[in-house]
Parts: sequence; C-alpha cells; structure tokens
Amino acid sequence: MRIIVHGAGAIGCYVGGAWLAAGLDVSFLGRARMKAEVEAHGLHLSDVDGWTAEIAPADISFATGQAALRKADVVLLTVKSIGTEAAAKEIGRHLPKGATVISLQNGVTNAETLRRLLPKHRVVQAMVPYNVVHLGPGRWRRATFGDLTAADDEVTRALAAAIGEKPGRLKLVADMEGVAWGKLLFNLNNAINALSGLTILEEVKQRDYRRVFAAAIVETLDLLDLAGIAPAKIGLIGPRLLPHVIGAPDFLFRNFFLKVQKIDPQGRGSMAADFAAGRRTEVDYLNGEVVRLAERLGRKAPVNAAITDLVKQHELGVERVWSARDLREHVLGGHKGAAGFGY
Ligand SMILES: NC(=O)c1ccc[n+]([C@@H]2O[C@H](COP(=O)([O-])OP(=O)(O)OC[C@H]3O[C@@H](n4cnc5c(N)ncnc54)[C@H](OP(=O)(O)O)[C@@H]3O)[C@@H](O)[C@H]2O)c1
Repeated sequence: MRIIVHGAGAIGCYVGGAWLAAGLDVSFLGRARMKAEVEAHGLHLSDVDGWTAEIAPADISFATGQAALRKADVVLLTVKSIGTEAAAKEIGRHLPKGATVISLQNGVTNAETLRRLLPKHRVVQAMVPYNVVHLGPGRWRRATFGDLTAADDEVTRALAAAIGEKPGRLKLVADMEGVAWGKLLFNLNNAINALSGLTILEEVKQRDYRRVFAAAIVETLDLLDLAGIAPAKIGLIGPRLLPHVIGAPDFLFRNFFLKVQKIDPQGRGSMAADFAAGRRTEVDYLNGEVVRLAERLGRKAPVNAAITDLVKQHELGVERVWSARDLREHVLGGHKGAAGFGY
C-alpha cells in the first residue's frame, strides 16, 4: 500500500515517520517550508517511552504538488480542521477512485465533511490520542501516551497488521463517534492552554485553569447525555470521572494524577502553536462544536462559548495572556453549572 501524508506538520511528520520507520511505504505532501526542513534535516523522532528513530533525507520523499496524490492508495489526512474542505478538493481531483482517506484530525465532523465531498473514495475516521511537539528543525516528539485509534475497516486492518506492535501502532474500534467525542473532552483544554501562554504541565498545575477545563467538560457531558452520545474512555480515566480528577485540589491532582499520567515538560497544545504562528485556530471544531451541539438541542453552552470567544478575540489580534485566576473569573464568574459541580 502506497501511503501519502497530506498536510505534513506535527502529526503528519510524527505518524508518517513512525510508519516509515516501521517499514511501510510512506511519502509526504506539504508546504515548501516543511519540505525544506525535512530535506535539510531528515526526521528525528522520539517518544516518552524512550523510542527514537532517525530517517535520513535521502530516504524521504516529500512533495509540494498535489499530483503526488495520484500514486497513493491511502491518504493520511493531517491538515488542521480548517483546511479539510480545501484538502478534500485536492484529493477529489487527484486521488484514484476507491482509494482510502484516513482522517487523523481532531474534532467530530471531519470524516463527515470528507464523506460528503469525496463520494468516490473510502473515508475512515481515526484519532490521535497523544500530543506531538516540534522540538526544532527535523525533530518531533510524542510527549504523552496512547495508541493511534481508527475505525475497524479492511484497509485499517491491513495497516494495523503491517505496523504490528511498533511505534505508531494502530488500535481498531467499532464506535469512532464515541472515541472522537471522548478525545474532544481532552481537546477542550487546547484553548485554555493557548490562552495561558504556558506549557501544558505548567498550566494544569494551576487549579483555576483546571476549574475552567473541568467546567467545560461537565457542560459537554450534559449535552452528550441529552444527545444520546456516549463518549469513550481515552486514557486512564473515564469521561464521568474526568472532571472530578481535573478539578480536584492541587495536592490530590499533583500527587495522584500527575504521578500516573506523565506529561512531558516541553509539551504545548497545537492551538498554542497556532497562536505563536498567528494562524486561525481549530476552536470552531472543538469548543465551538459543543456550542453548536447545544444550539441543536435548544440549550446553551456558556462555558465553551466564552472560551471560544476569547480564542476568536486572539485571532483578531487581542494578544492577552490569561492568568489562571482571570480566566476563571471571566469564564466561570457566577456560572451556576460549574459552581454547582463544586469546581
Ligand atoms: N499536534 C498535536 O499534538 C496533535 C495531537 C492530536 C491531534 N492533532 C490534530 O491533528 C491535526 C493536525 O495537527 P498538527 O498539529 O499536525 O498541524 P500542523 O503542524 O499545522 O500541520 C498541518 C500542516 O499541513 C499543512 N497544510 C494545510 N493544508 C494543506 C494542503 N492543502 N496541502 C498541503 N499542506 C497543507 C499546514 O500548512 P499551513 O500551516 O501553511 O496551512 C501545516 O504545515 C489537527 O486536526 C490537530 O488537532 C494534533
């Protein structure tokens, strides 16, 4: 199977590189600046388990022209959600009919969008549970734990068998809707992390940031209950327990959660990278998705709406770094949902 990563950035270079290191036929499609970086430095990959892989520039095929899609059997789509429609048009134009597109993107609607725009291709939803950081030229690191997860399908089964237990291994599941919403609960912290200006570890050590995160989760869980969607357990803690653990007092959180769930001190969310680069973020596909779910149900989602607004303000040029206390007061001030939950 000839695999092409479409939108080679943090996830594309890490997952594509891990699959290349595992012996799969992987090439890359991305921007000229990424091509220059990878061709100058190769791929240096590492993870929190101590795995490393070095792939020399001569062993990497990196294209910037969409025609590269013509030779692929499988596309690993790793553009941000705001780039899905544009990427789908390129795929529709160049990828052979019947070929497979696997969305490795965060959010709950990308696969649906791809299916609508690519009726002649097979679309498979996948989920990346871990955080990947760009450490410097040619260097990417998986900074947290978890297995890449995809819908169980003929193609993903063949890929999972080819990768085996090597890094980048693929876990297959039947209910991807639950998995995608389970992951979205964690992604509700992306905006908080970006607004904090801190690494994920520095941010989550402060309870007021965690209070906001916990309230955003509680609000989402209530809406998912109403919608009849059961979010899957991603990682060590199930969705129902998650806000209690996240919102717990510092002593408990640091001595229990942070002891079990290791967080790399260098890890930052991908929205923080968008802030740093002055790019539009994926907030509409994360917290914004909760606001839209509330609207469909005739409800409100004030916590996620307030967080979405702050990110939008930043996108428009309001570059405020929010302290934990200011963020809590702004987002949760007087909000009964979060207060009623004890956070
Ligand atoms: N980073 C993480 O730790 C992480 C973890 C789990 C899931 N995810 C999810 O994975 C997805 C990718 O995130 P990421 O952090 O890897 O993003 P990223 O580093 O920004 O990589 C995406 C790359 O694709 C390029 N691109 C966009 N449209 C393209 C197109 N049509 N053709 C070629 N290249 C294109 C982008 O260039 P421009 O910037 O110039 O558009 C960028 O270089 C997102 O949905 C994210 O939420 C990320």
